[in-house]
Amino acid sequence: MSIRTIEWKNNYIRMIDQTKLPQKLVYLNIKDIESLWQAIKLLKVRGAPALGGAAGLGAYLGIRNSRAVNYLQFEKELGRVCDYLASSRPTAINLFWGLERMMRVSQANKNKSILEIKKMLFKEAQMIIEEDRASCRQIGNFGEKLFCDNDSVLTICNTGILATIDYGTALGVIYRAQEVGKRLKIYACETRPLLQGARLTTWELKRKNMDVTLICDSMAASLMQQGKIKKVIAGADRIAANGDTANKIGTSSLAILAKYHKIPFYIAAPVSTFDLNIKSGKEIPIEQRNPAEITELFFKNRVAPRGIKVFNPAFDVTPNALISAIITDKGVIRPPYLKNICSYLK
Ligand code: MRU
Repeated sequence: MSIRTIEWKNNYIRMIDQTKLPQKLVYLNIKDIESLWQAIKLLKVRGAPALGGAAGLGAYLGIRNSRAVNYLQFEKELGRVCDYLASSRPTAINLFWGLERMMRVSQANKNKSILEIKKMLFKEAQMIIEEDRASCRQIGNFGEKLFCDNDSVLTICNTGILATIDYGTALGVIYRAQEVGKRLKIYACETRPLLQGARLTTWELKRKNMDVTLICDSMAASLMQQGKIKKVIAGADRIAANGDTANKIGTSSLAILAKYHKIPFYIAAPVSTFDLNIKSGKEIPIEQRNPAEITELFFKNRVAPRGIKVFNPAFDVTPNALISAIITDKGVIRPPYLKNICSYLK
């Protein structure tokens, strides 16, 4: 049975509550933007492309009952909704990209009636969703060619159905490879501290009867040393103009290990994840999260003394020099990234 991470259904946003997985598949009906903000903050919906979808649907949800009597009033209201949703998480560019797209549609139609603008916004939100479905499949088509039958592949975080609308970026490549008949052995890093790998990636891959083995993040080097990893593939939350890539904390360690062991390291992401306004990864804002995620969240008993100092960045930046190729919906981009990203994306 196919599932949708987030969609518009029966007049509300319907999403999978990813914090309940893998125990149960539960759907939430989100009826106001405050609940959506919380859902994003708490990672009930997560993953850069899914956040792009949440942005589009959320902007519409926030203004659909607007009583604005003229465009200026309406634009102010939409701006407030977008600023509010933008304050939920800072790193994944897709969230801001989706919100800006909604603002642009409103501005481009300012001469129409408010009712018509609302309809256009609904249509735009649906387009963001449909485009993600198509672009993930394109990423899969381009990316699977880099993989061989019987490859063993290491991945981190969750970059599949649950991180997008219904297919995936890095996991989309793996799904496509399987669809064209390549048998892959997947190693999934558990992805401390929020365990997106252990909870979500293994759940998704098991549903699809794929060969998946869960490892602790610290086991990657040992596997590589033993020659058990042929390729590494990860997603992205934001890619700078020079190819530096922010992704789940732990990704850059894998890239360094892969370089040392001469293993190809791939990033898979749609063009909506590129931020050409920033020159390098140094400018990417990195989200800091609640210390309790490390000290107690998934444990029966807390694992560190009360009041201990905690450093809990949700993402790190992998320098472009460690990335063998970036698989996008427009094709596979190879170094030199500064030159090639521009030519692919324009
Ligand atoms: O904190 P999360 O779970 O939202 O982090 C998600 C990731 O880092 C993913 O790898 C990234 O968004 C790409 S998803 C296709």
